[in-house]
Amino acid sequence: SDLMVESTSAPTMERLSGATYWLTGLSGAGKSTIAEAAKVYLDKALGNTTSVFCLDGDVIRQGMNKGLGFTAEDRAENIRRVGEVSKLFNQAGQIVFCSFIAPEAGPRAGVLATHAKANCKFTETWVKAPLEICEGRDPKGLYKKARAGIIPNFTGISAPYDEPKGDNVLTINTDGKSVDECVQMLVNDMIKRSEEHTSELQ
Ligand code: ADX
Repeated sequence: SDLMVESTSAPTMERLSGATYWLTGLSGAGKSTIAEAAKVYLDKALGNTTSVFCLDGDVIRQGMNKGLGFTAEDRAENIRRVGEVSKLFNQAGQIVFCSFIAPEAGPRAGVLATHAKANCKFTETWVKAPLEICEGRDPKGLYKKARAGIIPNFTGISAPYDEPKGDNVLTINTDGKSVDECVQMLVNDMIKRSEEHTSELQ
């Protein structure tokens, strides 16, 4: 028969609906990898491919934010626009994973405020790995170019990264962890926060 018994601990869209996770961290820390793997996991758990949406710096910068560079000002505008878009998806009930370096605390606080004002759940998520590890991974060969001075203003090399601070930050240390372990941390946090939210409403 088609009858299915739902376990109370299984993620359901009703419970997780409307949440933004902003994955911040150095290039090569694993932001996009975790977001994409978490989407695969949640698509399966929720039984559809439309509840979870990923916004990614490399993709958004080719389309919506084409023309923005890597000065502090352009990055802030990049983050601001994506923050507005993610809020809209969130309001429409989706789970949104935003993978952007977002190196400065100010613009990150701005996105948090945008969500808070709209009463949208938002979790700043620090995808953390030491610079040496990120540079060692160098999946796109960009650190090499940054060291050679070919790419200016490169985060961690010639531009700053403000480490996330505060009790509400979810930190996922990717150094020495598998992608699956990182996804579990993210999903567990999501379930935990949705339960806290539900109990707040009761
Ligand atoms: S952000 O700082 O504005 O948040 P975003 O996440 O959109 O950055 O884009 C980062 C991606 O752009 C990196 O993964 C890398 O592929 C590319 N990139 C090109 N130039 C730089 C640079 N100077 N610093 C960091 N990333 C860069």
